[in-house]
Amino acid sequence: MLQEIKKNIYFLNAVDWNRRLFDSLIPLPDGTSYNAYLIKGSEKTVLIDTADPSFEDSLMEQLKEVKKLDYIISLHTEQDHSGLIPHVLQKYPEAKVIASPKAKDFLMELLFVSEDKIITVADNEELQLGDKTLQFIHFPWVHWPETMLAYLKEDKIMFTCDFLGSHLATADMFLKDECQGYESAKRYFAEIMMPFRTIIKKNMPKLESFDIQIVAPSHGPMYNRPEFIIDAYKDWVSDNVKNEVVIPYISMHGSVEKMVQYLVQALKQRGVKVSIFDLTAADIGKLAINLVDAATIIVGTPTFSAEAHPLVSYAVKLVNALRPKTKFASVIASYAWGGKAIDSIVEMLPNLKVELLPTVLAKGAPKDADFKALDQLADAIALKHKDL
Ligand code: FEO
Repeated sequence: MLQEIKKNIYFLNAVDWNRRLFDSLIPLPDGTSYNAYLIKGSEKTVLIDTADPSFEDSLMEQLKEVKKLDYIISLHTEQDHSGLIPHVLQKYPEAKVIASPKAKDFLMELLFVSEDKIITVADNEELQLGDKTLQFIHFPWVHWPETMLAYLKEDKIMFTCDFLGSHLATADMFLKDECQGYESAKRYFAEIMMPFRTIIKKNMPKLESFDIQIVAPSHGPMYNRPEFIIDAYKDWVSDNVKNEVVIPYISMHGSVEKMVQYLVQALKQRGVKVSIFDLTAADIGKLAINLVDAATIIVGTPTFSAEAHPLVSYAVKLVNALRPKTKFASVIASYAWGGKAIDSIVEMLPNLKVELLPTVLAKGAPKDADFKALDQLADAIALKHKDL
């Protein structure tokens, strides 16, 4: 049975309670959902997005009682939302797919939707459904170049697809626990949206001309307090950083562990908040969340075959791809016979616009001079953070 949001507007959700990995990379501790929306206007009926192909049965069951469909709107063509468009078209052969001009190629290349089935819409173009009107807002790079939002004017609902969404499996239509929702949405932002922070910041003012009562994303619950998620995004995409240090590290024989623990205490004494992530067991999503606000990242690595440890290299490569707004960086390392670990880490961070603070390289186990260097690094960090 269809779940009604408002009269003739329905929430078609596929809850993926047990999914634990997205893009074969991103941890999903709380599962996810793929939301589609059905709008029955007095003249036309539209479906906004579909669901992940693994939820074909679920979506088709929810559409069982829908006799006629005029349009499928594809806000974003990644397959977790578009993957069932061919199946829906099979059920409703008269339906057309509405998408942004950039999405047209993707629909044809990824899903073999035929060109004559696709109608492209310009930025701000409207679609009349009879007693309801949809307005399309091009909103590129959240997180693909073709994405658009759709605003249902009469009901003041903004459909945002991935943008403002969260990987959170829940049976609720609307977010109930804002603490949990904040964490899930921040994780989603950190893992998916953060690399596009600058362009999102540029496009965010577009939302201000709309009176939004409901934000309806395609992952996670809807928001009936839109300012909760919009204000959170404004903060995350801003250039503001906090008095926080994030330390991802590996220790093979305890030297780096000692250096990290010493630095944690030194920073704490100087009033700096620190989060450390042992990369043998860390949730990389949690690391990403902490990088949304942190002013400084310190990478800790032992030397493995004359270079940084491979697990550290992997994490640093990921950090570089996520492009956090972090302003300062350093590396603390130990070595026995080959001292190139620090250079190899610094070379892996070209995307970060960071000021490199003094690095610390211990030969073997850390000694008094190394601890003194760590104190000096803590001093430098505290001084830089004073001006934030
Ligand atoms: Fe949820 Fe970018 O797909």
